[in-house]
Amino acid sequence: MKVLGIESSCDETAASVWADGEILSNVIASQAVHEQFGGVVPELASRAHHKTIWKTTSQALEESGVKIEEIDAIAVAQGPGLMGSLLVGLSFAKGLALTYKKPLIGINHIDAHLYANFIEHEETYPFVGLIVSGGHTRLVYVDKAFNHELLGDTRDDAAGEAFDKIGKLLGLPYPAGPEVDKLAKEGDPKFHDFPRSMINKGLDFSFSGLKTSVLYYTQEKGDEFVQNHLNDICASVSAAITDVLVAKLKRAVKKKKVKHVMLAGGVSANSMLRKKMSQFAEDQNLNLMIPALQYCTDNAAMIAVTGALKARVGDFDDLSLKPFARVS
Ligand code: KG4
Ligand code: ZN
Repeated sequence: MKVLGIESSCDETAASVWADGEILSNVIASQAVHEQFGGVVPELASRAHHKTIWKTTSQALEESGVKIEEIDAIAVAQGPGLMGSLLVGLSFAKGLALTYKKPLIGINHIDAHLYANFIEHEETYPFVGLIVSGGHTRLVYVDKAFNHELLGDTRDDAAGEAFDKIGKLLGLPYPAGPEVDKLAKEGDPKFHDFPRSMINKGLDFSFSGLKTSVLYYTQEKGDEFVQNHLNDICASVSAAITDVLVAKLKRAVKKKKVKHVMLAGGVSANSMLRKKMSQFAEDQNLNLMIPALQYCTDNAAMIAVTGALKARVGDFDDLSLKPFARVS
């Protein structure tokens, strides 16, 4: 089976071909236009998707060596995401499906982050998954494909959002997550003890208190001190965020008594988080799945592999498929 995946939910235009268990191409066009605004501008994102989606998809097909006529299904990110951006991908995928008479499959972008793990790891259930992206921080229990039980969610900011907003406070460019990660590698995680909100309570998350705490801290210490201790502050912030994420995952694993755990979403690229999760999995003898770095942040390979999971059971959509901005 061969699936073409298309992703356009935020600020990456991406296309990928999955064939018989393998990713043959994974093309991502990132939109630099947002950098000057310190965040994604929805209208500019839609326009940039419209400009590049044809080229990106053609390139993904070409690199894979698979002709569009040989594709068995077209999978496309349906939501959550920016409405205008989603509409570009969805309309484009519908056009292809109609022209080449291919089945269409709408994919939940958050599910796709999770199932990105099955690009390189064996498909196994039940598992507890921690999805940490720019828009979501969720703990789920999954006993079979697409059967998700929501165990925990964020009450305010997502983990990626916390990294980005705190990074912005520290004067780092958007998206600040990868930059905080880089600086933290040279810093002392014990330099300052930032709050770990709700760490001992339940499976929900809250990160806005940490953001406020960093704001007060930087105001009190002043610019010069902050810039002179950027590595240590980034390390201390990363320690606070990752401690909470690991503690919640531990609690969920204990509650559901699973042997398989997975990490997913952009923040799963974070080096401190990957290290702590690996240590925890080793201590508890768990099978830990984390996507390769290129499949952590937004990409279309994750859409294609999730499409393949749906295509194998004939779970197709028709041309009335609609985008959705949020998940309930
Ligand atoms: O999954 P993703 O690419 O997009 C969403 O679906 O939101 O996640 C993007 C988020 C951003 O907040 C970005 O700063 C964060 O993932 N991120 C990181 C790292 N790489 C990406 N956060 C911390 N450390 C990283 N290495
Ligand atoms: Zn994402």
